[in-house]
Amino acid sequence: MNAIEAKNLHKSFGPVTAVDNVSITIPEGGIFGFLGPNGAGKTTVIRMLTGVLIPDAGSALILGTDVNRDPLTAKLKMGVIPENGTVYSDLTAEQNILLTAKFYGIDRMERNKRAGEILGRLGLTERKDDLVRTFSKGMRQRISIACAIVHAPPVLILDEPTTGLDVFSRRLVIDTVRHMNSHGSTVLLTTHNIEEANALCTTISIINKGNIIATGSPEKLKKTFDTSRYVEVSFDQRVEQDVFSAPWIERVESWGEKWRVYTNDPDRAVKSISSLAERDQLTIVSIATSNPTLEEAFVRLTAGA
Ligand SMILES: Nc1ncnc2c1ncn2[C@@H]1O[C@H](COP(=O)(O)OP(=O)(O)OP(=O)(O)O)[C@@H](O)[C@H]1O
Ligand SMILES: [Mg+2]
Repeated sequence: MNAIEAKNLHKSFGPVTAVDNVSITIPEGGIFGFLGPNGAGKTTVIRMLTGVLIPDAGSALILGTDVNRDPLTAKLKMGVIPENGTVYSDLTAEQNILLTAKFYGIDRMERNKRAGEILGRLGLTERKDDLVRTFSKGMRQRISIACAIVHAPPVLILDEPTTGLDVFSRRLVIDTVRHMNSHGSTVLLTTHNIEEANALCTTISIINKGNIIATGSPEKLKKTFDTSRYVEVSFDQRVEQDVFSAPWIERVESWGEKWRVYTNDPDRAVKSISSLAERDQLTIVSIATSNPTLEEAFVRLTAGA
């Protein structure tokens, strides 16, 4: 069964089409990232998946349960951090977690056990008796995630869980996401942080202007733009430019003994450069290929947004 299955979701706000016929299939087990520029429609999709917003058209299933037809069953299967968080400012950190656990029908002993464990995991044990009103943004976000995971949901949906957090809070949130995933939760998160999506997600969908324009593993998305790659090589002596002419070389640049060879086939370029060096008895001082980045894929795919 798929963890999340959305079919042809559509949502307009007056003249603005926020989400235009989006379908997503998220199998159980991975960490799925939604990446897109501001206003792309990420939060609107998340709100429809979590039963907060009724779509104009389309449907969403969470582990086989239709979010709009059977919202209560669907909601029991998921833990959610909405875009602006939802914590009770006038309760303490611990009370927030205990109350949320109670909503999910977890018994008292288990509630206390889980609250203690989650407070520890998120570095909040020392502040457990302080009102959340007195917390910083990063600490509030940690409470949001604590409440989202207290019922050990099989599906975890997080709208920008790390935006605006310092390195310490960010790491605690990411470690918690990984921990939940390794204990069986399928995760869907949105992020603006491309490196984070690259490091954390098994599959990424890039969304732009209400449409999903690319889906794949980070490696696959990077490879979409292989053409911008180059091989940088330096020799122990000057080399004539025409030795680098071949159909698979787009252009070359040089600075003294150092060359940058733009190619759509870096693997072939490296091998040819080595055999050329061997033939002409040149010593290669250094050789490296540029790595395509997910950022480049993202910028190119969403250009003009
Ligand atoms: N309640 C609403 N009323 C009117 N327009 C809305 C509403 N919610 C979203 N929109 C519009 O829908 C579009 C998509 O917004 P959404 O919040 O889904 O984007 P996003 O990808 O989450 O952006 P961000 O990265 O800034 O969070 C935007 O043009 C936004 O102005
Ligand atoms: Mg958003």
